[in-house]
Amino acid sequence: MCGIVGTIGKTDTLPFLLEGLGRLEYRGYDSAGVAVLSGNEIQTRKAVGGVAQLVAEVEQNPLRGNPGISHTRWATHGGVTTENAHPHLDASGKLALVHNGVVENHKHLRDELIGRGHVFLSQTDTEVLAHLIGEAFDQNSDRNRSALLHAMQEALRHVRGTYAIAVIHADLGKFLAAARSGSPLVLGIGKEAQFIASDAAALDGWVQDIIYLKDQDIAALDGESFHLATVNGGTATAPKLRKIQVEARATGKGIFPHHMLKEIHEQPDTLREAMKGRLIPEESTARFTGLHRTNEQLRDLKRIILTGCGTTFHAALAGEYMIESLSRIPVECDYASEFRYRNAPLDPETAVFAMSQSGETADTLAALRESKRKGALTLGICNNVFSTISRESDGGIGLRAGVEIGVAATKTFTSELVILAMLGLILGRIRDLSQADAAEIIESLERLPDLVARTLERDALIADIAAKYAKTRNFLFMGRQANFPIALEGALKMKEITYIASSGHPSAELKHGIIALINEETPTIVLAPQDDVFEKNVSNIEEIKARRGPVIAIGTEGDNTLASLCDEAILLPAAPGFLSPFLNSIALQLLAYHTAVALGCNVDKPRNLAKSVTVE
Ligand code: AGP
Repeated sequence: MCGIVGTIGKTDTLPFLLEGLGRLEYRGYDSAGVAVLSGNEIQTRKAVGGVAQLVAEVEQNPLRGNPGISHTRWATHGGVTTENAHPHLDASGKLALVHNGVVENHKHLRDELIGRGHVFLSQTDTEVLAHLIGEAFDQNSDRNRSALLHAMQEALRHVRGTYAIAVIHADLGKFLAAARSGSPLVLGIGKEAQFIASDAAALDGWVQDIIYLKDQDIAALDGESFHLATVNGGTATAPKLRKIQVEARATGKGIFPHHMLKEIHEQPDTLREAMKGRLIPEESTARFTGLHRTNEQLRDLKRIILTGCGTTFHAALAGEYMIESLSRIPVECDYASEFRYRNAPLDPETAVFAMSQSGETADTLAALRESKRKGALTLGICNNVFSTISRESDGGIGLRAGVEIGVAATKTFTSELVILAMLGLILGRIRDLSQADAAEIIESLERLPDLVARTLERDALIADIAAKYAKTRNFLFMGRQANFPIALEGALKMKEITYIASSGHPSAELKHGIIALINEETPTIVLAPQDDVFEKNVSNIEEIKARRGPVIAIGTEGDNTLASLCDEAILLPAAPGFLSPFLNSIALQLLAYHTAVALGCNVDKPRNLAKSVTVE
């Protein structure tokens, strides 16, 4: 949520401030702004909308300067206006600050500052930070770089919440200070310039060496050297210089009109990549070297907790079915936002998998830290293997899905599913899963990318159905067993990008209340593959049809029942039961995508959302 970048060097900072910011737009795209030190004054430009709007504003009202900071916003406090866009200034107008995070006690701090005569121009929690630091700085007669660092330490001690901030001051010339607590921040160390950013993706092509700041770190940059301290005045741990990874690079849309459609179509490849070198047919098992655990250690596990948010949580729910049936280890799934406050009993025989595409989700990170504190084994499942969750876990598994730019998660969801299937295989093989049963699973997994490719061939059929139902006001999604989480995910995808009210349910819950919603105007999408609960799904469809509810069924090729019973039938390639969630989720991704296109929605940047939710 919110992206920040900053730089200090020998030349004008604007090219980086705008380009780097563009690469962070996935973190928020309500409004954007930039501040630079120009001569001996701070100049700012702001715009409502994305970075393109800011670029247009800068073209109309050019500015040059060094150092500089910029920000792309996902609104938390205060509406989407230029006044609320960052950077914010302190009372003197000489200090400019950008912020990612949430100041939880901002009201209290704001009231105190108002009591001392401060006047605020925005509704943001961030402006409070600027005033607080500016006030502490102005009270120090030294007015030098150390004084600004002390002012940051003094001010941040009063702050409850999360922050990654960057600060420049008109009186301090070539000096840029940054600090983090709970929100990610990376330094880029170059010969000619230094950089800060919320994500290394912003730095690719500008710098080779990067340092991930730790919580409570304060960094001071002067363009030639850098110094680290901590918010509480202690010595920072020695920084670890890393090479920036190509993985951080954003990619184009290729032949596709949207990133989301491109990413949906990448799934045969991303699934292949997730399995590459990890399936071991000769031993009928799989291997994740990043777990750093021997089979003996894994055999000692008595319980598994899968935690995450949103789409990733739905993958966890589907994983629960797969892991329990293959390994017989009890699995619990919990929203990370609930788990972190649930006070769950944990012990070293419990493995907590913190699952997150971005690896930066605030709730999931907090769940990981809470689990670690209580002595559980903590393991990450992330797409970004350089993320905070990956770095703080005892071990982990990378999704290898490549950068996902569409805000609605698609390819990373199926990669999470396949990782969990392989995890079930590993855990099963060191317990009761027979070599023959495991070999069959491996064979099926090896066929999965081709089955997904054949599912994608239904794209045109699904586009037609989507256009027909696009004016719908409510969608219901139903599934059983591991397809129940897929129904939840289908509903989430639909609401995220089309804004149509959609809800997912276990099919058997129909009679327990949901049936009250059935009418001629409410289509139900029923996941009804040819499996051992097919007849039960057919009964549910009959019940819906008896009440004149339109039904879009997603079934299996060769099925003769669904086409005659339902309004629409999308028949997917025949596949072993445990693979049907993969294929169904792809059909539902396409249904949501084409509905959004039919409605003219902004598919890749849906309203109010951000790709990485780094605030609570
Ligand atoms: C998915 O389409 C959403 N953008 C959202 O639910 C997302 O899955 C959730 O915020 C968790 O993100 P993470 O996997 O990066 O932790």
